[in-house]
Amino acid sequence: MNVSDERTASLWAPIKVAPDAVPLPHDDQVDVVVVGSGIAGLSVAYELALAGKKVAVIDRGQIGSGMTARTTAHLTSVCDDYFSELIALRGRELARHFHESQSAAIDRIEAIQEMEAIACDFRRVDGFLFPSSGVQEADLERELDAALQIGAAVERTTGLPFAGFSGAPALRYARQATFHPLKYLRGLAVGLRARGSVLYRDTVVEKVEETDGGVRVATASGFVVTGKWAVVATNSPINDRVALHTKQAPYRTYAMSFEIGRNVIPDGLYWDTEDPYHYVRLQPGDGETDFLVVGGEDHKTGAADDGDERFAALTSWTRRLVPDLGVETHRWSGQVMETIDYAGFIGRNPGNERVFVVTGDSGEGMTHGVVAALLIRDLILSGNSRWRELYEPSRKTPKAIGDYLVENATAIKNFVEYIAPGEIDSLDKLRPGEGAIVRVGLTKIAAFRDEDGTLYKRSASCTHIGCHVHWNSLERCWDCPCHGSQFAVDGTALNGPAVSPLADLQ
Ligand SMILES: Cc1cc2nc3c(=O)[nH]c(=O)nc-3n(C[C@H](O)[C@H](O)[C@H](O)COP(=O)(O)OP(=O)(O)OC[C@H]3O[C@@H](n4cnc5c(N)ncnc54)[C@H](O)[C@@H]3O)c2cc1C
Ligand code: FES
Repeated sequence: MNVSDERTASLWAPIKVAPDAVPLPHDDQVDVVVVGSGIAGLSVAYELALAGKKVAVIDRGQIGSGMTARTTAHLTSVCDDYFSELIALRGRELARHFHESQSAAIDRIEAIQEMEAIACDFRRVDGFLFPSSGVQEADLERELDAALQIGAAVERTTGLPFAGFSGAPALRYARQATFHPLKYLRGLAVGLRARGSVLYRDTVVEKVEETDGGVRVATASGFVVTGKWAVVATNSPINDRVALHTKQAPYRTYAMSFEIGRNVIPDGLYWDTEDPYHYVRLQPGDGETDFLVVGGEDHKTGAADDGDERFAALTSWTRRLVPDLGVETHRWSGQVMETIDYAGFIGRNPGNERVFVVTGDSGEGMTHGVVAALLIRDLILSGNSRWRELYEPSRKTPKAIGDYLVENATAIKNFVEYIAPGEIDSLDKLRPGEGAIVRVGLTKIAAFRDEDGTLYKRSASCTHIGCHVHWNSLERCWDCPCHGSQFAVDGTALNGPAVSPLADLQ
């Protein structure tokens, strides 16, 4: 099980990436063990398979059914936290490396889908940054200046194809892209297997450790895969208790798709300057109708449980801009990991030589996953990468200390919840389909009653490092606000860093 067992499903979900993969049936030995089969895991595996390595990819769910199945798939080389902010925190040279590496990721996707003949609706499009309420011209000017400093192909433009925006200022970034994420992953899986690599689904990895000259990856079924290198690509790392988790924070984000007539708006990526921002793009349909995919309305994980209101806000934002919108087809949510200094953590896991990690997508996890493929490939094959310093997992960014303290305050505040009363004072008050935290004596219970009356009672203590979980009524799961773990109502871990289930209090 993984996040695909949560309640909502995206526009992409009908495409199955590798439905014929099997659970790990025995011990195995390969060159590289990749844990996680999203854009990051499959892209890293593909590059190493191309270089002649035998790779095993292991996933706790179906192949490609994690957060990548919930993305909106803007492929952009633009820092969504603003280049001006990135330069202020990390300097111009590393900001230049950010743009260069993210552009290289888009180029690599373009090359691979051509080389492997993957029909995944890949298109090069322009990206537009625009103020959607009020006119923040000064912000745009500052960002234009910063983007030009680091070599981005950007210009100031006027007018967007949205109602009331014919005279609006915007920045236009050339050579951005988009695609159907799961059709692309399906093609990567075919390419991997054609080069002798293997995919294992429904296999929970419990432990990743270095041995003398190699790695050992132990699974819940008892089987072990050994190799020379391991790559942990589980979105939120399962192998690390705190080193990386204190430097990033989970945010829940919402997405919807609507039917839209062909040519109602030009193909492109559009995102606004609000905080949190909204993002829109087109996806071709099969007939006369395309889809408009929109995302936004993020909040810190566990800080709100009002999915319907978030969707209502997204709908009204979208219909205000595009009055000719057709019917809604899908609504879903997912989680992104925001780092304190705007770049992901990609490289050697702190303290390890042979274990690599990729995490911290900062809302740009599709391109970060492909950057990881290029960077980790180079570290394994040639010992270095020019982007190593930017994404170094063990880095400390002194100028981000304020954000570090703010993000970790969530964890400290969270532990206080153990002494607070429950959300309801008795299990009898739990109605069918509802979940809530109930205090019984000194114990906090994460309780859920299903439609046929069955009551699930699990500990409210997250199995990562013990934060107090929160109910998510949209996805019908328990979310951990500290580092992003998610659990099913029966306690099964659906998303890292937790691996083990919530304790059973039945
Ligand atoms: C609504 C939404 C919109 C987004 N929009 C964009 C966008 O427009 N552009 C962009 O660049 N990014 C976007 N993102 C972010 C991006 O989609 C993600 O960062 C990216 O897909 C993450 O890929 P991944 O491979 O790291 O993780 P995943 O796709 O989650 O893959 C990780 C895999 O690891 C597996 N796993 C976890 N624990 C274990 C274990 N113990 N054992 C075995 N397997 C395990 C999981 O089952 C999962 O399949 C968006 C995200 C969301 C939710
Ligand atoms: S995710 Fe770290 S304590 Fe829950």
